[in-house]
Amino acid sequence: MKRCFELARRGAGAVSPNPMVGAVLVHENRIIAEGWHEGWGGPHAEVNCFRAVAHSDEKLVAGSVLYCNLEPCSHHGKTPPCADLVVKKGVKRLVIANMDPNPLVSGRGTELIRQAGIQVETGILEHEGRFLNRAFFTNIMEQRPYIILKWAQSADGFMGKKGQRTAVSGPAALRLAHRWRSEADAILVGAATATTDNPSLDTRFYFGKSPIRVLLDGSGSVPAHISLLSDERETIVFGPYQPGLPASKRFTGTNAHTHVREVADVLFRENIGILYVEGGPQVLEQFVREGLWDEIRILESRQTLGGGVKAPSIPEGTAGYTSFEISADLVKICFRQSAYIPDNSNISVL
Ligand SMILES: NC(=O)c1ccc[n+]([C@@H]2O[C@H](COP(=O)([O-])OP(=O)(O)OC[C@H]3O[C@@H](n4cnc5c(N)ncnc54)[C@H](OP(=O)(O)O)[C@@H]3O)[C@@H](O)[C@H]2O)c1
Repeated sequence: MKRCFELARRGAGAVSPNPMVGAVLVHENRIIAEGWHEGWGGPHAEVNCFRAVAHSDEKLVAGSVLYCNLEPCSHHGKTPPCADLVVKKGVKRLVIANMDPNPLVSGRGTELIRQAGIQVETGILEHEGRFLNRAFFTNIMEQRPYIILKWAQSADGFMGKKGQRTAVSGPAALRLAHRWRSEADAILVGAATATTDNPSLDTRFYFGKSPIRVLLDGSGSVPAHISLLSDERETIVFGPYQPGLPASKRFTGTNAHTHVREVADVLFRENIGILYVEGGPQVLEQFVREGLWDEIRILESRQTLGGGVKAPSIPEGTAGYTSFEISADLVKICFRQSAYIPDNSNISVL
C-alpha cells in the first residue's frame, strides 16, 4: 500500500480535483505491474496498472492481488467503471486503503467486486491514505476547495517592508514554494500585493503547471500594466470590471469586497480543488477569521526586518504541526483540526 501511495503522489499537480491513486498488482510476492492516475480526465490507476502487465505475465493476473489506495469506481464518468475491469480481469483479491468518500457511491465498487467472488480487504493504512488525499476528501465532504495559506516571514515576524517588494526567503525555500504552487489549482492574492510586489505567480523555479491566478481587488485599484492582468495567463478577478483590460480575465463586476466564502464557492464551481492563498496579511486574515483554511505553510528566514507588514498569527485549534530546515530558512506547517489529518508522527508534506 505504501508503494501505491508513492505512485499516487506522482499525480500531484496533475489530477486535482480528482484523487491521487496508485495501483500495484502482485503475484506470489512479485510485483507484476504498477500504475497511477496520471492526469485529470485520463485513465484511472487500475486501468494503467493492468495495461502495464507484460504479455508473458498476462496468465498470472487471475491469481494476483490488486492493491489500490482508493476504492475502484463503479460509475461511468470520463472513463468506464474500474470495478467492472477488476471483475473482468478476475484477480484473486483486492486490497484498498480508503473507500470512496462520496456517500452516494461509497461501497458500490467493492460490492460489485465481492459479488463476483473476489475477496476484498479494506482500511489498510486508512489514515495515511486519507492524509495523502486530504484535498480530495475535503472537496467531496465539504464541497469547497482545500485551502492552503502560505507566507514568508522574517525571524521577527514581518512579511515585508510596507509599500516595497521585499525578498524574504532564500533560493531553496523559493524553489520549494514554486513546487507547492505547481501542486495547486489556483493561487490567490490581494490588490496591495499585486500592486506592490507585481508577482507573476508562476512556477519558473520548478517544473509543472502554473496555476490559475485569482486577484481580490474590491475597488478596482490595481493598475492594468501589472503582470497578473497584462500577460497571457488566466486571472480571475473579484472586483469591478475595468474597461480596456483583456477579455480573458473574468470579473465578478461588483464594486465591493467579496466574502471569502463566496470566493471559495465560486472557485469550487470553477473546478478548483486546491486553493493556495499567498497574501498579503489582510487577505490571509479573512480566511483565518472565517476558519476557511486547511493548512498553513510558513517560510521563516533567519534575518530580521525590524518592522514592516506584520505576519498573521497562527490561529488556535491547529492539529498537526511540523517544521524542518531548508538551507537558511525554516519551514513551518500546521493543519486545521479535521478528520483527514492523523497525529503528528505521520505528517510529511515533501
Ligand atoms: N512575505 C510574504 O509572503 C508576502 C506575501 C504577500 C504579500 N506580502 C506583502 O504584504 C503587503 C500587502 O499586504 P496587505 O495586507 O496590505 O494587502 P493585501 O492583502 O495584499 O491586499 C489587500 C487589498 O486587497 C483587496 N481585498 C482584500 N480582501 C478583499 C475581498 N474580500 N474582496 C475584494 N477585494 C479584497 C482590497 O483592495 P481595495 O482596498 O482596493 O478594495 C484590500 O485593500 C505588501 O507589502 C506585500 O509585499 C508579503
